[in-house]
Amino acid sequence: MLSPAPTLADARGRIKHKLRLSLTDRCNLRCVYCMPEEPKWLPREQLLGADEILRLARLFVTELGIRDIRLTGGEPLLRAEVVEIVARLNALRPRGLERIAMTSNGIRLPQWAAELRAAGLDDLNVSLDAFTPETFRRLTGGEVAPVLRGIEAARAAGLPVKINSVILRGHNEDEVLPLVRWAVAENLTLRFIEFMPLDGRGYWNAERVVREDEILARLQPHYAITPEPPTDDPAHYYDLDGHYRLGMISTISKPFCRRCDRVRLCSTGTLYACLFSASGADLRTPLRAGADDAALKETIRRHVWHKEAGYAERPGYVERPITMHVMGG
Ligand code: GTP
Ligand code: 5AD
Ligand code: SF4
Repeated sequence: MLSPAPTLADARGRIKHKLRLSLTDRCNLRCVYCMPEEPKWLPREQLLGADEILRLARLFVTELGIRDIRLTGGEPLLRAEVVEIVARLNALRPRGLERIAMTSNGIRLPQWAAELRAAGLDDLNVSLDAFTPETFRRLTGGEVAPVLRGIEAARAAGLPVKINSVILRGHNEDEVLPLVRWAVAENLTLRFIEFMPLDGRGYWNAERVVREDEILARLQPHYAITPEPPTDDPAHYYDLDGHYRLGMISTISKPFCRRCDRVRLCSTGTLYACLFSASGADLRTPLRAGADDAALKETIRRHVWHKEAGYAERPGYVERPITMHVMGG
């Protein structure tokens, strides 16, 4: 008789299929919605090594029902072994892994895209919040041209790309329409993300959040907009003029916590059940002390079981020692 498929569930009946795996806290940008002004990078010995990452990934896939792994950061392409890690994850496909994805700021893609594709990466989400160089600079501390070159390089390598744009009042509201026009012309999926209270510099306040309804109001004069049925993603979609799908990730105005199917492992080996969790479960200490798979599995299951309801029931700033660039979003 076949044994039942392994699952990782919380007490609210939400089954986990997606693991967000942060490879590093380091980043070559300083987005105001993510980074502290003067980030203090974690000491290298606190980061999981490639073998440790792969040991945990294998456990999540083969014993806990994870089917989808997304590599995040900081900026995951700053991790020297990133291609090796993708290739080793790729070897987990016969054991149940269906998708290897990555979220990147795009800057290093010209260098890595082809190798990542060859190693087994399925698709990429790239952050792009503005086209105007000065607006981009003020938001991220970097230049927009290399990001656009990175997006082109990924597409040329055959990697499907989705674009993530965080809109902040006083920064880039005027970029909403140009971003949509560009995405429609390029046939790239674009998702607007509401600014979440997880930045590292206390910049968030409710006034700075540009909500979904406000973004839609900006687009209304230019497009016929029809909502699409909900999906299991954090994003929900609108049809524009019958031929384009625009995404919205609206944690603040429309939290999607009831459908949450993901967990996150940050680069230090701490497991967080929710993006807004105040604390996580340390897997690195038992891993380095020689814990066997059964013990690690038990720690993971116990932590995930007690996953909190999420942002929907506890809105506002999360006071905790780690910020978005360490958590990986
Ligand atoms: P796919 O749907 O697989 O493309 O990935 P994704 O959208 O989950 O990944 P991505 O890293 O591109 O994240 C897009 C935005 O969604 C980021 O701002 C994330 O922080 C946010 N996000 C991802 N997962 C969650 C979640 O569980 N809860 C909340 N509130 N936001 C999330
Ligand atoms: N609120 C919303 N989205 C954020 N991101 C980073 N910080 C925040 C925040 N405070 C987004 C980035 C990237 C993804 C991983 O998370 O734009 O696309
Ligand atoms: Fe770096 Fe992404 Fe954070 Fe921007 S949002 S600072 S690109 S990790």
